[in-house]
Amino acid sequence: MTTESPRPAVTRRRLLALTTLAGTAAAATGGAGAAAAVAGESARARGERRIPFDGEHQAGILAPYAAHGWFAAFDVEPGRGAKQVKALLRSWTDAARRLTEGRPPPADDAMATGYGPASLTITVGFGASLLRRLRAPVPAALAPIPPFPRDEIDPGRSGGDIGVLFTADDAIVVAHALRTLTRLSRGAAHVRWQMSGFSTSDGVVTGSHATPRNLMGQLDGTGNPRPGDAGFDQSVFVGPAGDPAWLRGGSYLVFRRIRMLLDEWDTLSRHRQEQVVGRRKDTGAPLSGGTEFTPLGLDKQNPDGSLAIGPSAHVRQASLQSNDGAVILRKGFSYYDGQTTDGTPDAGLLFMAFQSDPVNGFTRIQQRLALADDLSRFIRHTSSALFAIPRACRPGRYLGQDLMEAL
Ligand code: HEM
Repeated sequence: MTTESPRPAVTRRRLLALTTLAGTAAAATGGAGAAAAVAGESARARGERRIPFDGEHQAGILAPYAAHGWFAAFDVEPGRGAKQVKALLRSWTDAARRLTEGRPPPADDAMATGYGPASLTITVGFGASLLRRLRAPVPAALAPIPPFPRDEIDPGRSGGDIGVLFTADDAIVVAHALRTLTRLSRGAAHVRWQMSGFSTSDGVVTGSHATPRNLMGQLDGTGNPRPGDAGFDQSVFVGPAGDPAWLRGGSYLVFRRIRMLLDEWDTLSRHRQEQVVGRRKDTGAPLSGGTEFTPLGLDKQNPDGSLAIGPSAHVRQASLQSNDGAVILRKGFSYYDGQTTDGTPDAGLLFMAFQSDPVNGFTRIQQRLALADDLSRFIRHTSSALFAIPRACRPGRYLGQDLMEAL
């Protein structure tokens, strides 16, 4: 465990894992004890880790970093309506409960026989097109994300009636979960697009940093808000008076596939790369000084009077100070998908962000980034989707039941 921060990410991540693995007794050992316990945990026990499907919020929102993150968007078949969607959500909920507990779903294909749940989470969201099909009111916050300068959005790999995020520490477990839901959707819905991403397996990162790196080599996730921070719930979850009622306790997920122009990025010196982001590459510390979790010193000056975190540095332009207090919870997975036709790698970030209000969250921040962020010259957004993520369900109920009962 790192000692450089009052609130290092590793503590939460490992505590969460331990809480699900061995109950509150292990968690009560606290940060250092928990980290030590995990270090001695066998690979087998890692496979056995469970993250409960039922609860207050869908599990993929607050789950610790997982090694694999896949996303699938489904479209409901033409002519199908509320009856088929309800049956689909019932069967998905039943399968998701089983899969996340490591139990086989009905008529299992045996793809993951002998595998534990490996911290599997399955998080489901509804697109505006689904609500229109169901003739349900579409919340204003689910309005399409506007186009931004430099966008190269592929409509065939954007949008969708239903979005599903799968995360786990094993790729077979994730693939099995996707296959199961796809099989169960036959006749009612089909996969519109699907993307596979990866992050870092627990225990792989050496040194004191638990924050995973992205394919530009930066520690990615440091500045994320954390549960317990003032205003965290208001920023991430739709409040108790939120509209529509079925979304209270839920969230909105913005999905963007963002290609990194790695060949161009590589031409920059390390120093210049750090200026573009505003943080050091090795430690992730802000250029204003300190260590990874030291708050950004946006007014700090270099001896020559220039700003330590430059005017167009990514973290300055993305910070809540530059965006009227906008805070989003980012959850990124890298992707590396072969070469593009120009011979450069098709690699980057499956960027996901949870928030209670995407208009004043992602869209507000991205409007600024697209114009004023130095990093935007080295990335291209190629897919876009927005889903309303209903709250998790209680045992005995199915996901989205509040919406279906309100129709
Ligand atoms: C490939 C694209 C991107 C890369 C490589 C990237 C990378 C980074 C890095 C390295 C950091 C600093 C460490 C951290 O706090 O995680 C950061 C911070 C951040 N990024 Fe990005 N980012 C990307 C796209 C975006 C987009 C599209 C948004 C939102 C529209 C965004 C919002 C933020 C925010 C809010 C922060 C925290 C700023 C703070 O500390 O106050 N990023 N990003």
